[in-house]
Amino acid sequence: MITISTKINPESISQAAKIIREGGLVAFPTETVYGLGANALDSEAVRKIYEAKGRPSDNPLILHVSSFEQASELVYMNNVAEKLIAKFWPGPLTLVLPAKEIVPLSTRGGLETAAIRMPDNPVAQALIKASGVPIAAPSANISGRPSPTDFESVYNDMNGRVNMILDGGKVDVGIESTVIDVTNPEKILMLRPGGMPRELIENVLDAKLYFPDETSKKRSPGTRYKHYAPNIPVVIWRKSKNFPEINNAAYMGVHDVDCNCAGKIIFPDINSYAHGLFAGFREFEAKNFACIIVEWPEGDSGVSEGLRDRISRAAGEK
Ligand code: TXA
Ligand code: MG
Repeated sequence: MITISTKINPESISQAAKIIREGGLVAFPTETVYGLGANALDSEAVRKIYEAKGRPSDNPLILHVSSFEQASELVYMNNVAEKLIAKFWPGPLTLVLPAKEIVPLSTRGGLETAAIRMPDNPVAQALIKASGVPIAAPSANISGRPSPTDFESVYNDMNGRVNMILDGGKVDVGIESTVIDVTNPEKILMLRPGGMPRELIENVLDAKLYFPDETSKKRSPGTRYKHYAPNIPVVIWRKSKNFPEINNAAYMGVHDVDCNCAGKIIFPDINSYAHGLFAGFREFEAKNFACIIVEWPEGDSGVSEGLRDRISRAAGEK
């Protein structure tokens, strides 16, 4: 397959929308990470997403919409969902709700629910509007690899596997959206911490988010698989412990360390850490370092919970 990669302009958006309507694949920027998009209502197009990523077909996709009305055509809303949408959309918050019949089983991995989100990115919004359909999009990486946060990473993983890549430069957030299950308004479940901090959601609802138990974990298949891993080992360093002595290792974190590391990225704060994590993984693996030592992020607020989740999965701790 030949991949067209192009900067964003009205022509490239309408060309991309045409590809989506005709059942093809378009990689596009969102505020969190790049997505690999297809018409969410077309089972055959959705099948191509799984094939291009090498993704297990029971891991459901997020449907990206450009309006509340479009979302209401896909899922049964409730008060909690409406409250969160009013407050946080567009933004990095994905809601799982009972699916309407129109959503193909292949898009929702055979589940009775579907995940919906309105991305806070003008390119993503323009593409969804111009396509006239909801766009199913996982992160635009080969399954298991770090999610792509810039055009080059998408190109490296997806060239020849998709019809078009829209080059929107670097994303804003750097880790994926927070996914919560609001099917039961009495017991809201945190399925995946991410770009939308837990405390903001809990404050708006004046309720705590629960972790899924074993039964509900079965309803969130994505959390079972190995994720976000570069092809060199990731080693976690907790600040209270001695820094690991490893030859030819690279380091990243918010605290500088006195080490003879072969590569180093020091981020000014936790948001920059989240923003640069996946790009850092890709940069260090390309340089063939022995491993990547990552600082374990402390703190309960902001993106720290999402960042810890990505780091522990990349290190194989989950
Ligand atoms: O920020 C993001 O969310 C990015 C951008 C492209 O929007 N997308 C993304 O998609 O991260 P993906 O496919 O890599 O992750 C989707 C997550 C998976 O963990 C999946 O299992 C979960 O959402 N999910 C999707 N539909 C679900 C459903 N019906 N029930 C439970 N979990 C669901
Ligand atoms: Mg992903």
